[in-house]
Amino acid sequence: MIGSLNHVAIAVPDLEAAIATYRDTLGAEVGAPQDEPDHGVTVVFITLPNTKIELLYPLGENSPINRFLEKNPAGGIHHICYEVENIETARDKMLANGARVLGDIKTGAHGKPVLFLHPKDFNGTLVELEQI
Ligand code: CO
Repeated sequence: MIGSLNHVAIAVPDLEAAIATYRDTLGAEVGAPQDEPDHGVTVVFITLPNTKIELLYPLGENSPINRFLEKNPAGGIHHICYEVENIETARDKMLANGARVLGDIKTGAHGKPVLFLHPKDFNGTLVELEQI
């Protein structure tokens, strides 16, 4: 059911340093920071030939990224996002297979419907599904 890897999201404790690493050291195409107040994050999109990397930096005191960085002070992979054709069909399939769906379908950072799945059901990885 899942399609392409849409992105890998990496939480970072220092956004400017992370941008410099990807832009200068790794030579990637790095976009401008975008604030996503609904999600409590500032996002930087890095475009690779076959997928994207998203740098996530906390925005606001209640950002979910704050908690992640408390546990992972150096930063780390926060989630991976797979593409699906239909988010409702995907949700129903997850539920039918006993996977825990976190919250409701929301609008993600790309303006498309997304859904998050519990890491305990996916080998310790927070999974995002995005309708393309
Ligand atoms: Co994401």
